[in-house]
Amino acid sequence: MRKSTGRRFLLAGNWKMHATRPETTALIDGIKEAAAKARDRDVLVAPPFTALETAARALVGTTIGLAAQNLHTEPKGAFTGEIAGEMLKDVGCGWVIVGHSERRQYCNETNELVRLKIDAALRAGLTPIVCIGETLREREADNTLPVIERQVREGLAGLSRDAVKNLVIAYEPVWAIGTGKTATPEQAEEAHGAIRRLLREFAGETGAESIRILYGGSVKADNVDALMAQPNIDGALVGGASLDTTAFSRIIAFQ
Ligand code: 13P
Repeated sequence: MRKSTGRRFLLAGNWKMHATRPETTALIDGIKEAAAKARDRDVLVAPPFTALETAARALVGTTIGLAAQNLHTEPKGAFTGEIAGEMLKDVGCGWVIVGHSERRQYCNETNELVRLKIDAALRAGLTPIVCIGETLREREADNTLPVIERQVREGLAGLSRDAVKNLVIAYEPVWAIGTGKTATPEQAEEAHGAIRRLLREFAGETGAESIRILYGGSVKADNVDALMAQPNIDGALVGGASLDTTAFSRIIAFQ
């Protein structure tokens, strides 16, 4: 835990559509040592659905958490191809990523759908990791803060203060995802500070101080230290580098 903020850092690996079951076991084996040493921070992995059970087994005896990458809004029913929060809980997940920009972009997920999914996750007893972030066009049009404000306002609409306090937010500028172009620590901190101020409306002043806001977008071993040094950055949501156990171990062990 950071004495200055009272928040524990969270380093999360979003594997996206990568990893068979044998690869899953190897990826987890490769970060166990780093995670065991990182007693003052939380670590989790988000494998694809088909590898969740394998991951849950490989994680026994570790403190690494298990997340899914998506869920459906309903607990069960005639929704061919979908997965419910209850099923994720059953397989051993404690967390679920909601509203990732790739789902917003390729699967037409709206802020309204994100809101329903947050609700569904909380009902199932999962901690949602709610992703927000602007596109390059929005940033170049000077629209970054209005866009993320709208994502927060519409995504969290109607949630109780206690529910909001249980969320993790991930700020992932779309232009930084998978491009090798990281937001500078100052750009990220500006967005994180704005998000935290906005969260006061939803969770109260002390509630907003307790919510973890992760940064995502080309986080690598060589830029993680500077990002994590920012006062409102409480961890990272890591894509590509989480598929390389040496790189992710170094990210977990950031200074
Ligand atoms: P990269 O780390 O590959 O840029 O991906 C970030 C991301 O989308 C994590 O959810």
